[in-house]
Amino acid sequence: MTRIAVFPGSFDPMTNAHLAVATRASGLFDQLVIGVLNNPKKRPLFDIEERVALIRRCVADLGEHVGVEAFDGLTVDFARSHGAGFIVRGLRAVSDFEAELQMALTNRKLAPEVDTTFLMTALEYGYVSSSLAKEVAHFGGDVSAMLPAPVAQALAERLSTGARV
Ligand code: PNS
Repeated sequence: MTRIAVFPGSFDPMTNAHLAVATRASGLFDQLVIGVLNNPKKRPLFDIEERVALIRRCVADLGEHVGVEAFDGLTVDFARSHGAGFIVRGLRAVSDFEAELQMALTNRKLAPEVDTTFLMTALEYGYVSSSLAKEVAHFGGDVSAMLPAPVAQALAERLSTGARV
């Protein structure tokens, strides 16, 4: 049996917490597709192609069985389009739990054959989020512990153009 999972998110941009989850999920599933949500309602700092390209650089060492794609619409439809039986989400603190439970139950209602699996992020990244990393970088703080090196560099370059976080 081939175990296929999708790992959906906004990834604006990918953090070390995301990467830790992707790394562990890559060891659990035969195929892992990281899905980058193209949400027209949000104005991300990095456009969809940039986010996909950055994640591809970050996960290049995880193996051929890890892919990265943009998607829009429902996560369960993205999962079904890949024949995935699992959605992977990372959990940091208890504060993540309520929203994640609601999403998992909604997704189960929509697609009972797709199960959501939660991976606790690494302890050292429990505080890391994309939005806080952008804010810290915006005010000149050091984000090297929060972001993979290519992402930290891309963020510094983007902010140097005067982009607003
Ligand atoms: O990185 P994020 O912003 O926490 O990811 C949220 C995401 C993309 C997983 C969630 O918003 C999502 O699944 N969006 C797609 C639309 C959808 O399927 N909605 C119903 C499920 S709650």
